[in-house]
Amino acid sequence: MRDPKTARRDRRSRFEQRLRGRIPKPPGRAIDPARGQGRFADDEDDAPTPGRGGLVGGVVNRLGPKGRFLAAAVVIGALITAGDLFWERYTNQTAISADHANAAQVGLGHSLYDQHCAFCHGADLVGKPGWDGDYPDGGRPPLPLEGTAPIWRLSDRDLFDVIKFGGQPFSPPSYRNEMPAFEADLADADIWAIIAFIKSRWPEDVHTRQKEAAAEQGS
Ligand code: HEC
Repeated sequence: MRDPKTARRDRRSRFEQRLRGRIPKPPGRAIDPARGQGRFADDEDDAPTPGRGGLVGGVVNRLGPKGRFLAAAVVIGALITAGDLFWERYTNQTAISADHANAAQVGLGHSLYDQHCAFCHGADLVGKPGWDGDYPDGGRPPLPLEGTAPIWRLSDRDLFDVIKFGGQPFSPPSYRNEMPAFEADLADADIWAIIAFIKSRWPEDVHTRQKEAAAEQGS
């Protein structure tokens, strides 16, 4: 059995030999004593190992003008994609409002909703049965958030406050509101993302009613 390390080295030096064979040698190089030294030595340890620049340079040289153009286009494309992703994350992290037409913000909100809200309000936002019953002392089950319940009476700012501070501060002291506060768990931008996701599930008439209600309240 061959030692895998030796095998790898053999394979590598064969690859290097093939590579050297394919790169045309400029005339005069072989008789340049300084540059030629050790070039064809059998012992790998003495041979100059091709550095990254050397290999990359060789590849770029062999590409030709068309290939170089394509390679540059691929690199620029990748940079633009990376920039886009970075910008998307940056704007998500600094959001100060909910835009349900912004797919990136809605996407972030969706995953945060699944982590923090779906347990009570349901993965499909339908809440728990009995939410529209009579609960004078509180303890109402989680409401649907997709528009079935009259959620439109809350402006975006109201929704933000209920999620950040919980339901209790906005209820009479005798009423037990079981909507928890997320101040400690979610950044403001995360809360806006969740609102964007929730609103992306509303039918058009719920959007209209929310706008009308907000205009009435002058907020
Ligand atoms: C532990 C269960 C629970 C979790 C988790 C929870 N909620 Fe609630 N939520 C409730 C309950 C219960 C109510 C109803 C409170 C009431 O009316 O007495 C409520 C009410 C609300 C309301 C007010 C709806 C209205 O019309 O008044 C909003 C908005 C809301 N939740 C959003 C969220 C969001 C967004 C999350 C995730 C960040 C979340 N909730 C997580 C239990 C929960």
